[in-house]
Amino acid sequence: MGSGHEGGAGAPGGGEFYSPLYNPDTGAYRFLIDGEWRDSASGQLVHNANPSKGNERCFGFQACTRDEVDAAYAGAKAAQRQWGRIPLNKRASMLKAAAELMRQHHAPIADALIREIAKPKKDATTEAKRSADLIEYAAEEGCRSLAKGDMITSDSFPGAERDKLCMAHKVPLGVVLCIPPFNYPVNLAVSKIAPALIAGNACVVKPPTQGCVSALMMAQCFKKVPGIPAGLVQVVTGRGADIGDYMVEHPGANCISFTGGDTGLAVSRKARMVPVQMELGGKDACIVFPDADLDLAATAIVKGGFSYSGQRCTAVKIVVAFEEIADALVAKVEEKTRKLTVGQPEDDAQITAVVSAASADFIQGLVEDAVAKGATMRTEWRRDANLIWPCLVDDVTAEMRLCWEEPFGPVVPVVRVGTEEEALRYVNESKYGLQGCVFTRDIDRAIGIADRMETGTVQINGPPARGPDHFPFQGVKDSGIGSQGIVNSIEMMTKVKTTVINLAKPSYATA
Ligand code: G3H
Repeated sequence: MGSGHEGGAGAPGGGEFYSPLYNPDTGAYRFLIDGEWRDSASGQLVHNANPSKGNERCFGFQACTRDEVDAAYAGAKAAQRQWGRIPLNKRASMLKAAAELMRQHHAPIADALIREIAKPKKDATTEAKRSADLIEYAAEEGCRSLAKGDMITSDSFPGAERDKLCMAHKVPLGVVLCIPPFNYPVNLAVSKIAPALIAGNACVVKPPTQGCVSALMMAQCFKKVPGIPAGLVQVVTGRGADIGDYMVEHPGANCISFTGGDTGLAVSRKARMVPVQMELGGKDACIVFPDADLDLAATAIVKGGFSYSGQRCTAVKIVVAFEEIADALVAKVEEKTRKLTVGQPEDDAQITAVVSAASADFIQGLVEDAVAKGATMRTEWRRDANLIWPCLVDDVTAEMRLCWEEPFGPVVPVVRVGTEEEALRYVNESKYGLQGCVFTRDIDRAIGIADRMETGTVQINGPPARGPDHFPFQGVKDSGIGSQGIVNSIEMMTKVKTTVINLAKPSYATA
C-alpha cells in the first residue's frame, strides 16, 4: 500500500463511459458507493501488478476504510428496500440493459483483464461477453422461477380443518456480499450479482487485488442503467488482509458468496449466521479407461489442463491413465502440449504468465519435488519470471506433492493405474471434490464410476467446466459448500416467506 499520488498504469479506455472511475490527479481508480465514484478518505492506495510485465505496477485503486465498508452496507440496505419493491419484470429489464451495456463496452474490460491478470485476449473478450449472457439469462430465469410459490391448505395435517391457507413465496435475503477471485474477476462477480439482484437483493462487492479494475468496470455497467437505485451494487476495494474479515463478519451481510482458494475456509468459519456459498479449490481428475477414444481424451486434457495456464478451479489437475493406454495417451498429450503457444496475453498466446511470482515459485516447487522423487518430465522445464512453459509430468506417484496439491498453473501430472479401485483413490482420497472426468466408450462403466466419484460434478467424455452457466455447480469436501449456477444461486439468495390466511370458518363449510 502506498500514499495517494504514486500513480497507476493509466486511465481506462472506452471514453466517457468509464472515465468517472479514474482520478487523473491520483492516477488511481475510485470505488463505487451510493452511485458515486469516490476516492477513499484513507488517502491510501493499493497497487496491483502486471503478471506478464515482470510484475511491474499496473493499476492503483482505493484502500477503503472500515467506515466506508459500514457506509457501503448501509447504502446497499437502503437501495435494496427500494429495489425489492420494483416489479420483477422491470428488474429483469434493467438487468438486461446492464447486460447490453456490458456487451457494448466489453473491449476496455477485456483490456483490463489482459493487463491485470494476463488473461489471453480471446478469453478476456469471452469473459466479458459470457458475463453479459449470464446476466440476461439470470433476468429471464428469475422472472420465471420467482413468480411461482406454493399454496398449502391446513386440512392435510392430522386433526386440522380447512380453515387456513398458507401462501409460500420467495423473498430476498437482503444484502449479498460477493467476493470473486482473481481468475474470473468479472464473470464470477456477475455470477453472484445477477442472481442476487433479480431476486431483489443488493450487493456489496469486494474485488480481488489482481482483477480489481476489471471488476470496477463491470460495476459501471450496472450503475449506468436508468432506474437502478444508487447503492444497489457497491464496490469496496482494498486488501483482503485489511478489510476482508471486517466485511465478512459485518452485520450488514445477509448472505456471502465467495469464490477463491483456501481463504474460503476461514471465510466460512467467520461468517455469521447467514447462508454461505463457497467455491474453492479443486484437484479435478481425468480418468482414462483402456477403451477410451484417446484423441478425444488427449484434446480434453490439453484444453482442460492448460486453458488460462491452468488457473481454473476446474482445470484438469491430475490425469489417471490405465497402464494399457498410458504410453499412447501421454504421447498424444505431449504432442499437443508442445504445440501450445507461450507468450503475451495481448498476442493471444495460449500460455501466459501466472498471476504472481509467489504462484510461479509454488508451481516450480511442486514440479521440483516430483522430479526429485522420480517423476518423468515429458516437456522441458522452462520459466521466465511468472511465465511457465506448459509442463507435462509423467510417472507421478502418491508420495509426490504434485499428486495431491493444486498447482493452479500450467502443469499436468499423470499417474498410471491398473484397476478402477486404484483410479478412484486419486479422486476420493483428495481433500478436494469439485469436478472430475471419465473417458470410456462404455456408458455403464462411465455411470458406475461417476456414481462412486466423490465430487460435485462428473463429466463423461469431456473436460471439467463450470458452464453452461445455468448448470448446477458445486464442490464437496474442501472444494466448497452450496450449489451455484444461475438457477441454484437464485434459489440460495432467497428465503421462503409464508403468509397465512385464517378463514372465519372451514372453507368447505360454506358449500
Ligand atoms: O476457477 C473457477 C471457475 O469457476 C472455473 O470456471 O470452468 O468456466 O473455467 P470455468
